[in-house]
Amino acid sequence: MSKICVIGTGYVGLVTGTCFAELGNQVTCLDTDPVRINGLLQGQMPIYEPGLEQLVEQNVQAKRLHFTQDYQSALEGAEYAFIAVGTPSGVDGEADLQYVKAAAESIADIVDFPILVINKSTVPVGTGDWVADIIRRRRGNRPLEFAVVSNPEFLREGSAINDFMAPDRVVLGSEDRSSANRVAELYKPLRCTIMVTDLRTAEMIKYASNAFLATRISFINEIGNMCEDLGADVREVAQGMGLDKRIGRHFLDAGLGWGGSCFPKDVKALEHMAVLHGTQPQLLQAVMEINRNQRRRAVMKLRKALGTLNEKTIGILGISFKPNTDDIRDSAAVEIMHLLINEGAHIQAYDPQAMDNAAKVLKKVKLCESPYEVAEGADALLLATEWNEFKQIDFAKIKELIRNPLILDGRNLWDYDLLKSMGFTYMGIGRGNN
Ligand code: UDX
Ligand code: UDX
Repeated sequence: MSKICVIGTGYVGLVTGTCFAELGNQVTCLDTDPVRINGLLQGQMPIYEPGLEQLVEQNVQAKRLHFTQDYQSALEGAEYAFIAVGTPSGVDGEADLQYVKAAAESIADIVDFPILVINKSTVPVGTGDWVADIIRRRRGNRPLEFAVVSNPEFLREGSAINDFMAPDRVVLGSEDRSSANRVAELYKPLRCTIMVTDLRTAEMIKYASNAFLATRISFINEIGNMCEDLGADVREVAQGMGLDKRIGRHFLDAGLGWGGSCFPKDVKALEHMAVLHGTQPQLLQAVMEINRNQRRRAVMKLRKALGTLNEKTIGILGISFKPNTDDIRDSAAVEIMHLLINEGAHIQAYDPQAMDNAAKVLKKVKLCESPYEVAEGADALLLATEWNEFKQIDFAKIKELIRNPLILDGRNLWDYDLLKSMGFTYMGIGRGNN
């Protein structure tokens, strides 16, 4: 059993802390946001993540998991301090590290015993060294025995607990291998592959992994756009490609493109790092441009089908950036709504989990209670996020409610033949053969 402090109770910090507690450790999660901490102390989750509420409750009951705003009590006796604070995009795409700096300085001010400082947040290559310098400078002539270890997260929102408990790999980077090996001890119960390397390589593995996944998605979207002109079906193209073990079927779903709090931020940050150090990241720039265009293409398809978007009512199903999360950060649905509103369209939308987050930012959108309210009086229906509950909606009822039976299936979720037989005009993504 180890004593762990996790700084930041966001999508990553809260899952990380709770899972370490589940593995039998004593964990204190700290956050500087009083609303978040007060909510957690009353058992309220700040985020929607399947299975998290129950796991938090179990570990709080077992007195393994604690929440606080106070750095002193959070770090007391801790052997490990995980930094899992936000690293949002700065003005021209670089990662904003102010919160990482604040966390490192707090650790330096408070800790007077040996500690391992672990960067869980996604941070630019070289940040581990920078964090070590911050701590050393902050300590001045007060010695402190510490090491910095990079331990990037590979958690997907909506499956974060499983991704933590059954990871494909754990990556650890440090200039002091023994420190990385001590962090590896925490992951031993998972019986997974643990890769130990140096700090910068570990930091780059994170960015390269996310950028490659985003590249796959932009690739299949570009192929999908070609399929629309050449009369092929991108879903079957992806299936045929995926049978090649070297390619695999994952992350080859054409649609409205990638969003969320990671891919956009991480691809931009990697591009910024490259340009800053004199490399021209043409591929990354193309990957981002294709993704931006994928959202605009959806708007173009609706404009073409309706003749104009001005004064048209567009129903949008799904607001979160992907299913099984309430996160709407850089969601394709949200950007498409803004593009449509800019052309005079009226938007009505529904999401199974993201309505609270949507209400905070989507002031010009009519937020509905159900998919059927979204369809009522609409000139077109856009499926933006492929929530399971949208798979089996009652299309007969939709047909009665919708003003104009036009569907743009942004995630190729629905059955073209069924909808066509019901009198809908169906548009998918990359579905050149229909
Ligand atoms: C984090 C990292 O930001 C990102 O780099 C990584 O890729 C995924 O994990 P996330 O967990 O989604 O992202 O961050 P977010 O949901 O923004 O939560 C960050 C938390 O840190 C917030 O609760 C915020 O209040 C807290 N925080 C922020 C601190 O506790 N201290 C600070 O100084 C700043
Ligand atoms: C991602 C990485 O998968 C994870 O390893 C990393 O730690 C954090 O970033 P996440 O952003 O939660 O996780 O979601 P993910 O499931 O990767 O989807 C990212 C985006 O790509 C979503 O907008 C999703 O809709 C889109 N996507 C995904 C596609 O458009 N097509 C696909 O085939 C897969």
